[in-house]
Amino acid sequence: MSRNLLELTDIHVSYGRAEVLHGISLAMRPGSIVTVIGANGAGKTTLLNAVMGVIPSTGAILYDGAPVPRSVEARVAAGLCLVPEKRELFSSMTVEDNIELGGFLRRASERGETREEVYTRFPRLAERRKQLAGTLSGGERQMLALARALMSRPRLLLLDEPSLGLAPKIVVDILNIVSELRKTGVAILLVEQNARAALEIADEGYLVELGEVRRSGPAAELAVDPALMESYLGAHS
Ligand SMILES: Nc1ncnc2c1ncn2[C@@H]1O[C@H](COP(=O)(O)OP(=O)(O)O)[C@@H](O)[C@H]1O
Ligand SMILES: [Mg+2]
Repeated sequence: MSRNLLELTDIHVSYGRAEVLHGISLAMRPGSIVTVIGANGAGKTTLLNAVMGVIPSTGAILYDGAPVPRSVEARVAAGLCLVPEKRELFSSMTVEDNIELGGFLRRASERGETREEVYTRFPRLAERRKQLAGTLSGGERQMLALARALMSRPRLLLLDEPSLGLAPKIVVDILNIVSELRKTGVAILLVEQNARAALEIADEGYLVELGEVRRSGPAAELAVDPALMESYLGAHS
């Protein structure tokens, strides 16, 4: 049996004296899509930030069978990449320059090939190479955030609500793109409030409420779980 790419055990996070994650455990296989769903304020962003190392946490984070490196920089070098909720694009820079920044840690010789793959995957961005990022539509901005992330050739992509603020039709487009990324071998930890759409493309799902895992299992089972549908999915889709 191959080992898990990511294994979280009993993760706790506090802001000041307020604990907001109360012992989260989660495992993901290499190359899989795992979604963490839950309402606003459940602790989803906090969990991603803890995995990336941008905020401190207690508990164990195993990456590829070993304790994850301590610093954010070392985690990036090890193949983790976070696309935050506020995409953090450079609005006054071109699409091309934003994409280039994603590959800054890699050698120029390796970057060229990845760049071509990225433009092939996102033809809309290829057409808009010289356009300023600030003039893109919401869906295009999300594509650009994903494209920039792919330039670092991540092994584990942490996506914080990629569908946030997008029109329903664009949500489907973006999640289809995320689903397609699986074919490149990258594993994706996908945080979403849009539970139904996320469960559709994920292998495994975790429902988080108030900093705790309430339910977990194969995404296909969660998507048809009557209790979950009624208490959660029904109200949010
Ligand atoms: N920087 C912070 N300082 C204090 N409390 C925070 C901070 N960030 C988030 N929180 C609180 O932690 C809880 C979880 O937030 P968050 O992880 O952003 O949830 P989600 O991403 O699921 O909406 C919320 O109660 C939120 O108010
Ligand atoms: Mg959030």
